[in-house]
Amino acid sequence: MKDYRKIIASHLAPHLEIATEEEIAALIELPKYTDMGDFAFPCFRYAKALKKAPNLIAAELAEKVSGDPLYEKVEAASAYVNFTMDKAQLAEDVLKDVLELGDLYGSSTKGEGKTVIVEFSSTNIAKPFHMGHIRSTMIGNALYRIHKFLGYNTIGINHLGDYGTQFGKLIVAFKLWGDRATIEADPIPELLKIYVKFHDEAEVNPSLEDEARNWFKRLEDNDPEAYELWEWFRDISLKEFSRVYGMLDVHFDSYAGESFYSDKMPAVLEEMRQKSIMKVSDGAEIVDLEPYGMPPALITKKDGSTLYLTRDITAAIYRKNHYNFDKNVYVVGAPQKLHFQQWMKVVELMGYDWVKDCVHVEFGTVSLEEGSLSTRKGRVVFLEEVLKKAVEKTKEIIAEKNPNLEHKDEVAAQVGIGAVVFQELSNNRIKDYTFSLDKTLSFDGETGPYVQYTHARACSVLRKAAPELLKQPVDFSKLGDSATSEVVKLIRQFPEIVIDAGEKYEPSLITRYVVNLAQEFNRFYHDHPILSEDEVLSTARLALVDATRQTIKNALFLISLKAPVKM
Ligand code: ARG
Repeated sequence: MKDYRKIIASHLAPHLEIATEEEIAALIELPKYTDMGDFAFPCFRYAKALKKAPNLIAAELAEKVSGDPLYEKVEAASAYVNFTMDKAQLAEDVLKDVLELGDLYGSSTKGEGKTVIVEFSSTNIAKPFHMGHIRSTMIGNALYRIHKFLGYNTIGINHLGDYGTQFGKLIVAFKLWGDRATIEADPIPELLKIYVKFHDEAEVNPSLEDEARNWFKRLEDNDPEAYELWEWFRDISLKEFSRVYGMLDVHFDSYAGESFYSDKMPAVLEEMRQKSIMKVSDGAEIVDLEPYGMPPALITKKDGSTLYLTRDITAAIYRKNHYNFDKNVYVVGAPQKLHFQQWMKVVELMGYDWVKDCVHVEFGTVSLEEGSLSTRKGRVVFLEEVLKKAVEKTKEIIAEKNPNLEHKDEVAAQVGIGAVVFQELSNNRIKDYTFSLDKTLSFDGETGPYVQYTHARACSVLRKAAPELLKQPVDFSKLGDSATSEVVKLIRQFPEIVIDAGEKYEPSLITRYVVNLAQEFNRFYHDHPILSEDEVLSTARLALVDATRQTIKNALFLISLKAPVKM
């Protein structure tokens, strides 16, 4: 890929001796408005050293570097030198690149030799995989794909909630009211039912709580009966979850959840005691975080049992030792912010400076639009139900719009599920948002189906073109008009957008980018016939269509959407 910033810097450097090429390249920006060109170089910082007004520096530089065939024009505008690239040359550079790299266009080797852990989804055993989990799952999966695409050694971990006192409760509940066959038939709702019943009963009969603690203790001590039940709860829950992960095309490299750390905690507790960072309070062990403006971190309870926070400390240390990560990213909702601040502070107090490489990627909450899913009040909405509903509705739309479509069911799944995922990733992650099924499935708004449809339309144009046209060499001088150039410019930006999305942990940058690209392409398509009498022009425009198709496909892949070729 041609690095225009570097090339421009190499043109400027000989005339700006006080700056290095690298420094100049790093300063080059994208202008605010497209009519100001493709790149802008600000001259403020040299005014002092050169004893010249920045405007004057810009004017002189502009004059010296213009004339290179790479540029259509170079102009000074106040303190900036604005560069407008030669449109045909730009089209040639960009389109050749996309068509050569194919599915790898936008990828890079930036992350080579570095390891990034992305922890995401982290659902809880025996609890519903509900609408709230979609955020962690899909933001996390996008960050996983983006980092892989950027060349990082990327490890996806599902930190399953598969440990803790709630399992003692579940065992008691099962022994009192559970029935294996009933649970096997419909695991999560049935387990949830007896779990809720436990809480209702425990209110009148507090001894149940003691029994539950006792059973959790037995589990921690590897009692065979406790272990067998726990393992069964875990297996049947995972089977349910993997169905949803399958629908979403989400995979993990590791399911090391909370239970994975049960035998690793004693050593960490010992280390903490030796480092004297804990104190005993009421029989429990805590780390006082008052000097840091936080409530104390509870590490062990009076009865010696460990907590969620203890497992997070242990997990971070394990991950550092085992993977030697450069970054350890947690995609977890904003309500857990304090929890993350607390355990990270404890790890810092233990003397581990790598804790600065642990990042809590937080996100806002999702609520459901009233009536959007005909839910009874207070009932949890299972994610699987939402996905199924979206697929069903998409089938209805296809039956109406394109009843003869091949592979109808497969496409309906790709579009219906994709629509939900796309909406999920449309806003800045930190924003709370309201999920609306109707809005999600619209083919006209800034939605997944709209982008997928644009992709399918590009595929269809390419299918309809005479094969000879696609084989001709491309005359890029035919692509010098401004509508084409707007599309080319966006395609050129894709690799930068991917890097930015990775650095900011913000998949929505890609979602919004791909909507822009689809809109810009549709504007072009609306005003410019692709196939015409002029075969040379047709061939050139087909190259643009093909490069757009490829870029949309790659962008959709990064946010976990499929790009059907017909819909
Ligand atoms: N299972 C937890 C929940 O559903 C999320 C786990 C987040 N990850 C972590 N390392 N604490 O709330």
